[in-house]
Amino acid sequence: MPVEQVDMGGYTLIENASLANRNTLRVAARATLLAEIRDASKLPELLDFPAVRNGRLLVLGEGSNVLFTGDFDGTVLAMETRGVQVESDGDSARIAVAAGERWDDFVRWTLGHGYAGLENLILIPGTVGAAPIQNIGAYGCEVAEFIESVEAWDIRECRVVTLDHATCAFAYRDSLFKHEPGRYIVTAVRFVLPRSRPLRTDYAGINEQLARMGVDKPAPFHVAEAVVHLRTSKLPDPAVIGNAGSFFKNPIIDAALADALKREHPGLAVWPQPDGRCKVSAAWMIEAAGFKGIREGDAGISNRHALVLVNHGKATGPQLWALAEQVMHGVRDKFGVMLESEPVVIGAR
Ligand code: FAD
Ligand code: EPU
Repeated sequence: MPVEQVDMGGYTLIENASLANRNTLRVAARATLLAEIRDASKLPELLDFPAVRNGRLLVLGEGSNVLFTGDFDGTVLAMETRGVQVESDGDSARIAVAAGERWDDFVRWTLGHGYAGLENLILIPGTVGAAPIQNIGAYGCEVAEFIESVEAWDIRECRVVTLDHATCAFAYRDSLFKHEPGRYIVTAVRFVLPRSRPLRTDYAGINEQLARMGVDKPAPFHVAEAVVHLRTSKLPDPAVIGNAGSFFKNPIIDAALADALKREHPGLAVWPQPDGRCKVSAAWMIEAAGFKGIREGDAGISNRHALVLVNHGKATGPQLWALAEQVMHGVRDKFGVMLESEPVVIGAR
């Protein structure tokens, strides 16, 4: 079927668009309408078209944290805006970054310009605009720590809003944006980054990797290099095999339950949380339940990392979700803990 494509100046509209190359699990899906947005100031005009205003909306960055279980009957807004604005006072900088910038490019830019803080978050796929949605985190850091505010188009109020750090209600893989899905289109994120700060090297593997690199007085770029090494050795590359990173969140459970599980399963990794509860390793439980490396058709669990659901080729969204549910039920039956998916599942469950 021929695909209609129209450049509207600031955004391009594509009818009946394929999303297969717009999600890193590489699932085939289509959107009734796709809007590639290069100028966020055009959002009000676009959102006022009756077909857009009266239909469903989905904001998409690089699609590295979504699972489509069907076509999207509505408008997909693909954020492709660019721009970085810096106000520096010497010791730190306030940096406003457009939602469509690539996260990893921005991290490398900060390191190249001598700002500290984001080194542990290098190589996470996706856009800057998506970073606050699940409060991306890795190797002992979460992005929330560096976010001063988030600028968004508020669909309910029909206006631009600036949401300060507290309003964003950041938590582990969570934020206001997950609790009010469909309300905000993030257009920019404002970060505050210092020139220097104590490095975080205590997450398992970083100090050992720095030692292997022969570094005894690490700078932020050394930590970044160590994290790149650890990530590439552990996680499958979406360019090689479709995946969305961790498909399951590490569950946060009561300390008493965590103690009981640890007594029965001494190998289980348990991370105490500031609120007294404990985060436990979903990967360990999935592996112990026998799911690491399993494959059903083209849907599988990576043999490199038990948290990663993989598409070996032509798996459909429903096939991948069926395998994810099988894993969740298996872990629940063995450990009494129900896992939750980290990526957003779009379509029927
Ligand atoms: P998408 O997948 O396009 O969207 C994710 C969600 O955010 C959707 O609900 C979407 O509607 C919403 N959204 C996106 N942009 C906007 C916007 N501008 N406004 C409003 N809503 C928006 N995550 C981690 O936290 N830590 C990791 O270490 C990590 N490692 C990963 C490794 C791999 C190999 C992969 C594939 C993924 C990994 N992830 C990790 C997950 C993913 O990289 C992040 O969640 C990332 O922030 C998603 O960005 P995206 O642009 O692809 O968002
Ligand atoms: N483990 C296993 N089997 C495996 C893999 C890991 O038993 O196949 C156990 C090991 O005991 C290991 C522990 O799990 O010590 C932790 O593993 P890892 O350091 O890889 O961390 P993770 O908890 O599996 C989390 C994030 C990742 C993030 C890493 C590093 C979640 C859901 N995942 O994974 O984020 O990169 O820590 O900080 O919190 C993502 O969100 O997509 C993601 C990749």
